[in-house]
Amino acid sequence: MTTDDGQRRRHIVLIGGHDETFPHFAGLGFEFTVLQLHDAIGPNLRGLTERISPVADFGPDIVVAEITRIMRSERVDYIFSFTEGGLLSAALASHRLSVPGLDLSACELCIDKQLMRTFLDSTEFAVANTICRTPAEVRAFLLQHPQGLVLKDPAGSGSEGVFIVRDERDLTAALDEQTGDGFVMLAEEYLPGREISVETLTIDGNHRVLAVTNKKLHRNSLAEEQHVVSPDVVDDDMFHIISAYCERLLTRINYQHGPCHIEVKITARGLRLIEINNRVGGDYIGLLVELTTGVSQFRETLRCWSEVDSSGVGPELARYAYAASHQFYEPIDPECLRSALRGVDIIRLHIEPAPSRLDRPRTNDDKIGWIVFACNESESFKRAIDYLDVNCS
Ligand SMILES: Nc1ncnc2c1ncn2[C@@H]1O[C@H](COP(=O)(O)OP(=O)(O)OP(=O)(O)O)[C@@H](O)[C@H]1O
Ligand SMILES: [Mg+2]
Repeated sequence: MTTDDGQRRRHIVLIGGHDETFPHFAGLGFEFTVLQLHDAIGPNLRGLTERISPVADFGPDIVVAEITRIMRSERVDYIFSFTEGGLLSAALASHRLSVPGLDLSACELCIDKQLMRTFLDSTEFAVANTICRTPAEVRAFLLQHPQGLVLKDPAGSGSEGVFIVRDERDLTAALDEQTGDGFVMLAEEYLPGREISVETLTIDGNHRVLAVTNKKLHRNSLAEEQHVVSPDVVDDDMFHIISAYCERLLTRINYQHGPCHIEVKITARGLRLIEINNRVGGDYIGLLVELTTGVSQFRETLRCWSEVDSSGVGPELARYAYAASHQFYEPIDPECLRSALRGVDIIRLHIEPAPSRLDRPRTNDDKIGWIVFACNESESFKRAIDYLDVNCS
């Protein structure tokens, strides 16, 4: 636990994380202990540290008990998590054990969609909303918002249990999905327009907008099919408007440290907020940000606590002007894909065997593969995107 000159290394406890994220943290001079789900312990985590605590889940009691046990024999300097399932427990552990890390109040606001909406009522970020406990309450809200509403689980993620309701038929279908005796659903006014997300990094309360991501959904579902980071996603003026809006938003929720993935609609009435996630964007958005800006939101979040001058250390990723990821929900031959996308650099490609056919709209969990690619030429990039849109959509 010491450096070459006898100094104690700072010790960070991480809660979970996708195995691909762990190489970002090498060379920062930290000692890491990682609480990880048994079946998610992968080669990159093993390469980062031998100190792995397998856990059954990331429930707050398990996480706090495990970190308390670790703290009996050694000091823990920071607690952090970059994964949706670990955020709240990491923030609770930081709070209860007085160890710096994720801020609990900002984390609670981001995770609880109703709390966030209520907190932002009467601000420029307000969206009409109400909690509904009966079908009659949902119907009454739809009458007040004839352009439509969105019903969602206030604590949901991954678009599960999110229903867009524009008429009585949609409403019946959404209500049919509600099982159990009662339900508690957040109803929001439907925000029309184009959806983008904004990838940010806050260090010591200073916000940086790194990228705006275009998001395309799979057919008539909420399953995410394609993410694009490129100078063409929005023009410079819009980028500045979006950046200023997100900086005001982050200041409003008093966000002090770490990445955010902010979902926004560009509407005729200006920007409207869907939600804030206090983590790196899902799928490969973090990689797209890194490919196009050279900034790893994972690494930079922890690097500011490092005593090692590590500015030049880390995976050498080329800088590209254009980067995209595409998630596959239908089978595709990887060799056909490689030859069709010869004009771009393929950074990741993974395709699983064809699944049995589903006769319902896809969800994010149904994806059977993905590709990440990048390049510096607009024409080659557009050709690759067109190919995917025509053949893999
Ligand atoms: N008020 C709204 N108006 C229009 N569309 C909405 C609204 N709320 C949600 N949506 C659509 O539904 C999607 C999922 O909603 P939301 O982000 O609130 O749920 P989630 O479970 O956190 O999803 P994810 O984890 O995939 O981001 C949004 O990305 C957006 O496309
Ligand atoms: Mg969302």
